[in-house]
Amino acid sequence: MTTTPTPRQRLAGRRALVTGSTSGIGRAVAEALAHEGATVVVSGRNEAEGAAVVDAITAAGGAAHFIAADLAEGTAAVEQLAQAAAQAAQGPIDLLVNNAAQLIPAQSLLDVDETLLDRALAVNVKAPALLTKAVVPGMLEIGGAIVNMGSINGSVGMAVASLYGATKAAIHSLTASWAAELAGKNIRVNAIAPGPTMTPANAAAHDMLRQLTTGQPDGRPGTGEEVAAAVVFLASDEAAHIHGVILPVDGGYLAAR
Ligand SMILES: NC(=O)c1ccc[n+]([C@@H]2O[C@H](COP(=O)([O-])OP(=O)(O)OC[C@H]3O[C@@H](n4cnc5c(N)ncnc54)[C@H](OP(=O)(O)O)[C@@H]3O)[C@@H](O)[C@H]2O)c1
Repeated sequence: MTTTPTPRQRLAGRRALVTGSTSGIGRAVAEALAHEGATVVVSGRNEAEGAAVVDAITAAGGAAHFIAADLAEGTAAVEQLAQAAAQAAQGPIDLLVNNAAQLIPAQSLLDVDETLLDRALAVNVKAPALLTKAVVPGMLEIGGAIVNMGSINGSVGMAVASLYGATKAAIHSLTASWAAELAGKNIRVNAIAPGPTMTPANAAAHDMLRQLTTGQPDGRPGTGEEVAAAVVFLASDEAAHIHGVILPVDGGYLAAR
C-alpha cells in the first residue's frame, strides 16, 4: 500500500511578526507563513481587519494572534509591539516581515509637503528601523530572518513617486547594510521588490494596474500570493546562504528596462 507523504511545512516552529498584515500583501504573507507552520503575529491599526485575518488563519488550521499598533507613533509604540508579539507567540520573534507602508498617491514633487514627508519617513523608514532594532536582540540567541518589503520604485525613478520611491530606496539600503551586519550572527536579511500587485485591498485600481503592466515582459500585475511565496522562500532554510538580496517580484519589469 502506498501512502501520500504529509507535505513538509517549511516554517514549522517559527514565530513571525508581519507588519501591515491586516490587508493586501501583508495579509497574503501572514496566511502563507501560517500555512507553512509559523505562528504568526498579525499587526496593523485596523482591529476588525486584524481579527478577520486571525480568524481566516485559524480556520485554515494555522496559529495567529493580532496586536494593534500604529507605526507612526514612534519608539514606545514600536517597542511595545515587539514585546507584545513575543509574548503572544510565546517566545522571541525569529521571523520579522517589515511590510507596512504609507502608500502615497501619485504626485509631483511640487505637491510634497512637510507633513506628508514626515509621515512617509515615519511609517516607511523610521518604524522598520526601530522595530528591527527592537526585535534583533531576541533573535541573536536563536538566529532568524528578516524580510523587508521594498518596491521597484526603490530602484527606478518614477516622475510621480519621488517620496514613496525614496522611502523604498532607504529600505533597500537598510536591507544591504543589515545583512552585512547580521549575517555573521545567524540572522539573514533580505527584501522583496514587488512591481504593481493586485490585492483585494486595491481592487478599485485593478484595471489601472492591468493597463500599467501591459508593456512589461509577462504583461500583467502580480498578486499578493506571488509576493508571499517569495517571502516564504527567503524566510525558510532553503535560502540559508542568501543575504542582502532585493528580489524583484515584478513580471520581468526591472530585467527588461
Ligand atoms: N500593491 C502594490 O502594488 C505594491 C507594489 C510594490 C510594493 N508594495 C509594498 O507592499 C507593502 C504592502 O502594500 P499593499 O499594497 O498590501 O498595501 P495596503 O493594502 O494598503 O496595506 C498596507 C498595510 O500597512 C498597514 N499600515 C499602514 N500605515 C500603518 C501605520 N501607520 N501603522 C501600522 N500599520 C500601517 C495597513 O494596516 P492598517 O490600515 O490596519 O493600519 C495595511 O495592513 C508596502 O510596503 C508597499 O509599499 C506594494
